[in-house]
Amino acid sequence: MDWVDGFYSRTGRWWGAAEGRITERDHHRVDLLHEHAGTGPLRVLELGPGYGTTAVVTAQAGHDVTAVEISDRADRARGFVTEAAPGTLTVIKDDFFRVRLDGRFDVVTYFNGFGVGSDADQRRLLTRIATEWLRPGGVALIDVYNPFVWAGWHDNEEHRMPDPARGYEHELHERTTFDPVTCAAIDTWWDVTRPDEKITQVLRCYTPADLALLLGGTGLHLKAFTVGDRTLTPGPQPGLAELLAEHHEYLAVLRTG
Ligand SMILES: C[S@@+](CC[C@H](N)C(=O)[O-])C[C@H]1O[C@@H](n2cnc3c(N)ncnc32)[C@H](O)[C@@H]1O
Repeated sequence: MDWVDGFYSRTGRWWGAAEGRITERDHHRVDLLHEHAGTGPLRVLELGPGYGTTAVVTAQAGHDVTAVEISDRADRARGFVTEAAPGTLTVIKDDFFRVRLDGRFDVVTYFNGFGVGSDADQRRLLTRIATEWLRPGGVALIDVYNPFVWAGWHDNEEHRMPDPARGYEHELHERTTFDPVTCAAIDTWWDVTRPDEKITQVLRCYTPADLALLLGGTGLHLKAFTVGDRTLTPGPQPGLAELLAEHHEYLAVLRTG
């Protein structure tokens, strides 16, 4: 996992100005939080918040949010702290595998990031959520990368031109491959002016069935998942287009009981 801080700090410098802005996606996530956890006010722990846009919208909905971000994106997230009312936003620049936090949370969220490191690492994180952070009866909402769609992107290459008006200053290449043995997406980026400085993220993908296996012994259970605009239970659903073809991630709803 040594690549994490470097990858997200560097990409944050490339496109933070463009993507560190609140969008509909942040409001949609808060709607999902309310759907699965109620409207509160709640004590929320957001893992890997990136630029903090969802964290601040969560706080603006009246919740007290603690956000733990390892990369320099935390510096941008801190810029939102003064905009958090009527809730509060605390940004901690640290590694969520090591950080020590006070008290329990009604909700733990991790949007668009779960799947870094080995299965043992994911289980370590899930166990921390269940035993150290979540209050009894609380809920964890975790986006999980969907292998069916990532596999379909195998061998994709993209060339992205700068668009300074939108905050994209760099001309970039992206190459995506998929490893069907380890069920991981391998996503490599480079700036055309520095082709020798490629950076890569490796993202483990899990079907809902595999996620349920991963959860065994962690104290968390998969109760439902939201994909697209549907919330489903994790029973058999042959031909489910949302997972087979349409969405590269789904939101897992995890509870301790
Ligand atoms: C793909 S980004 C998504 C950011 C944000 N959640 C969003 O949806 O825009 C994943 C984020 O998780 C953070 N992250 C990954 N591993 C982490 C760790 N061990 N501790 C804290 N943050 C971590 C990364 O630095 C990155 O900002």
